[in-house]
Amino acid sequence: MHQMTDDIQEVLFSEERLAEIVSKMGAKISEDYKDKNLLLVSILKGSVVFMSDLMRSVTTPCSIDFMAVSSYGSGMKTSGVVKIIKDLDINLKGYDVLVVEDILDSGLTLSYILELLQAREPKSIRLCTLFDKPDRRTVGIKADYVGTVVPDEFIVGYGLDYDEKYRNLPFVGILKPEVYGG
Ligand code: XMP
Ligand code: MG
Repeated sequence: MHQMTDDIQEVLFSEERLAEIVSKMGAKISEDYKDKNLLLVSILKGSVVFMSDLMRSVTTPCSIDFMAVSSYGSGMKTSGVVKIIKDLDINLKGYDVLVVEDILDSGLTLSYILELLQAREPKSIRLCTLFDKPDRRTVGIKADYVGTVVPDEFIVGYGLDYDEKYRNLPFVGILKPEVYGG
């Protein structure tokens, strides 16, 4: 039987390492937002696994919401065109919004999202990303919370996909080149 793990060339972050990174981020966020009105905004679908772990390591009361945008489609490169597929339910007025992303790459998707949410006049807005690929940045955007910096390689697992697959891998790794049809 074909297993997902057969397609992985190298594991970059084990389940244990990810848990460590995320709980550290949760502790810092809990401290920073203890007297605030925190709203975690998860950008679907990539951040869903990170979000579910992060929110449980935040010890202050918080609200959650989800937004889905299209960026990469089924490929590996950003198009620069961002479309809202699912908008937030919550009105941002009065909230200290923390946008939760899986990975900050070119920054195009997030700079668009931040501008859009800023226009809805939250009390504050900041950005939290599990992974940061600073080498690939094309727009001037920096995350307020970064789990870890990653090399310029396409990674999958823990929510991150290749062609909508591998999101359910509990660790993060690099695919074998033949998986891309290369
Ligand atoms: P930009 O370039 O706008 O893109 O910062 C951010 C989005 O691109 C996706 N992305 C990846 N997805 N492995 C993935 O599975 C990667 O290495 C990777 N790099 C970027 C991701 O959806 C992110 O939200
Ligand atoms: Mg993707």
